Amino acid sequence: MNTHPSPTESGGTMTLLLRQIRMEAKDIHAYELADPEGGTLPAFTAGSHIDVHIGPNLVRQYSLSNDPAERHRYVIAVLRDGRGRGGSKALHERFRVGDQVTVSAPRNHFELAEGAGKAILIAGGIGITPLKAMAHRLAALGADFELHYCARGPETVAFEGALASFAEQQRLHYHFDGGDPARGLDLTALLATQEAGSHLYYCGPAGFMDACGRASAHWRAGTVHSEHFKVPDQPTVAAVETDASSFVVEVASTGQKITVPRSANLATALQQAGLPISTSCESGLCGTCKTRYLCGDIDHQDYILDEAARREFLTPCVSRPRGAALVLDL
Ligand code: FES
Repeated sequence: MNTHPSPTESGGTMTLLLRQIRMEAKDIHAYELADPEGGTLPAFTAGSHIDVHIGPNLVRQYSLSNDPAERHRYVIAVLRDGRGRGGSKALHERFRVGDQVTVSAPRNHFELAEGAGKAILIAGGIGITPLKAMAHRLAALGADFELHYCARGPETVAFEGALASFAEQQRLHYHFDGGDPARGLDLTALLATQEAGSHLYYCGPAGFMDACGRASAHWRAGTVHSEHFKVPDQPTVAAVETDASSFVVEVASTGQKITVPRSANLATALQQAGLPISTSCESGLCGTCKTRYLCGDIDHQDYILDEAARREFLTPCVSRPRGAALVLDL
């Protein structure tokens, strides 16, 4: 294999070859992306995602599901969502083996706390993708973990073959509910007691996320990690409305001041002022627009930053200052 360092990159993106499409389960396709020249890809850590440019103005984020030790491919899995915004449908219908696909370098907002105690991984449906990568990594580390895969039935299970070794080791547990969550995994019982040092990771659809959040509400701060793959129907925190009709953003390096109407989107306003703010999901899910700030009381509306990160960064595609001023570290 050619081992040149990474595929051609431009503007933070690279063009990869769609080498394989595999039907993993009902409505789920896995897509294997590789360097067209057979070279190594930028390394990624378990929990990472990439932006996939599906079409003009159509960019979606997908978690990498394969073993992070692999450098020759990225594997994503996509559930066709008939009620979604069109990304999964376009991928399923338009993408063909041999296509060139533009993707971002991997980013991670769902990191493993390596070296901690036991890891409890809980996947709801297609939420298996980042957790599968985590299971590979934990296995490589010789760490203690258990993976719970909640699904409607066996016909909706992706990666069954790739996960078989975890099942043989009694680390993987399937929970089929036939479409009725009450018949599935008892999250309250599973998470009732937190073993010292243990961490929880979960990813899945909105109702599942809420249920995991409720069942782990008593876990110690910093030990519960989750990733939404879709904006929840209800914002986690209601956006704060203030009387002032605008606020002022100051650019720390130049002193440039930009007045932003409260009705405007902050990321768009910054871009229009010529600042280098990139966006992708525009929903607070991907971290592309993450920007460090030096001063300001922020109304955070993202789904990716934890408390510590929120003290340093904001995602201007969805967040903005509560008060009249914001200083950005740009
Ligand atoms: S563009 Fe995705 S978080 Fe802002």
